[in-house]
Amino acid sequence: MSPRTPTPQDRFSFGLWTVGWTGTDPFGGPSRPALDPWEYAERLAALGAWGITFHDNDVYPFDADEQTARDRVGRLKSAADAAGLVIEMVTTNTFSHPVFKDGGLTSNDRGVRRFGLRKVLQAVDLAAEVGATTFVMWGGREGSEYDGSKDLHSAFERYKEGLDTVAGYITSQGYDLRVALEPKPNEPRGDIFLPTVGHALAMIAELEHGDVVGLNPETGHEQMANLNYTHQLAQALWSGKLFHLDLNGQRGLKYDQDLVFGHGDLLSAFFTVDLLENGFAGNPDAPRYDGPRHFDYKPSRTEHLEGVWASAEACMGTYLLLAEKAKAFRADPRVTEAMEYAGLGTLAEPTIADGESLEAFRAADDGFDPEKAAERDFGFVRLNQLAVEHLVG
Ligand code: GCO
Ligand code: MN
Ligand code: MN
Repeated sequence: MSPRTPTPQDRFSFGLWTVGWTGTDPFGGPSRPALDPWEYAERLAALGAWGITFHDNDVYPFDADEQTARDRVGRLKSAADAAGLVIEMVTTNTFSHPVFKDGGLTSNDRGVRRFGLRKVLQAVDLAAEVGATTFVMWGGREGSEYDGSKDLHSAFERYKEGLDTVAGYITSQGYDLRVALEPKPNEPRGDIFLPTVGHALAMIAELEHGDVVGLNPETGHEQMANLNYTHQLAQALWSGKLFHLDLNGQRGLKYDQDLVFGHGDLLSAFFTVDLLENGFAGNPDAPRYDGPRHFDYKPSRTEHLEGVWASAEACMGTYLLLAEKAKAFRADPRVTEAMEYAGLGTLAEPTIADGESLEAFRAADDGFDPEKAAERDFGFVRLNQLAVEHLVG
């Protein structure tokens, strides 16, 4: 079964740094030539992508003067418009230049923090200018290798100060833009602050301007922390904070692989797509994600440029195949029956009835027999096997 050709209605988007990765890693130099940003954009549009995203310095160099930066962004924007591509998200690079070796917002060096925050605010203006609606903040260098190297209390204070400054600025400008924090447990720092979705949600709860701050969870980053990506998406959705996402693949606890979507844990990818496309099983009233299907992956450095395009197609194709299979899974009467048997739909019912006082609840005799209830079978394995059959069948 080969996937259908993607169209802009599918709302697939790619970071320019994904197809633009030339293969440089800590052990070797580039294995492919670099193209100009607009060349990547044009090719992605031809493959059926709907949108693109970028860091400021994917488009112009760190030390570019204002005119050069303007020219290059203008040229990219024209190319995107001509190709019918949306620039849906913009972010800042506060990790590549050595000045950010100890972070952009949480560096021990106050001069660096002031410089870093200005760079972020400048990228916020850029995001608004090109019509992006999401501003991702991935604090890859915010963290440490050594526990004794940071006043950790102040690090969280400075992180909060930075995020609130950015979110407050967006609100004061009236920009149609929301901040999406991207958690990652490690790499490049030994330990990164806001290592998981849960940590980021806890930070957002402390912010003054947290209403415009949400999440951009990445598949591999949660899996690097041995967490279940679909659960993380679900909790972000439940909290009203799933603003954006980075789909890719990761095989277990190792370096950040950024593989093609589905090339890591395929069964997990199936349930991720099932959640995104079909919503929470047994709960049609629950919130749904309707944002871009954004890929943040790296075409392996073993591939030529042709392999880069093939891998971008693979991300979209795998998603479409999984979406089709997830639809068939939900429509299968055996699945409906297995879900009913498993009691899925009844979890939405509040444990304490509407209007039932705590006193009445505690005194109620439900005629409940724990021994009898313990005999119950849930049939979760059969339900899961039906998913596997749809996936590989
Ligand atoms: C990673 C990260 C980055 C960020 C991106 C946005 O793989 O470590 O995903 O790719 O998403 O830089 O700032
Ligand atoms: Mn990653
Ligand atoms: Mn990412």
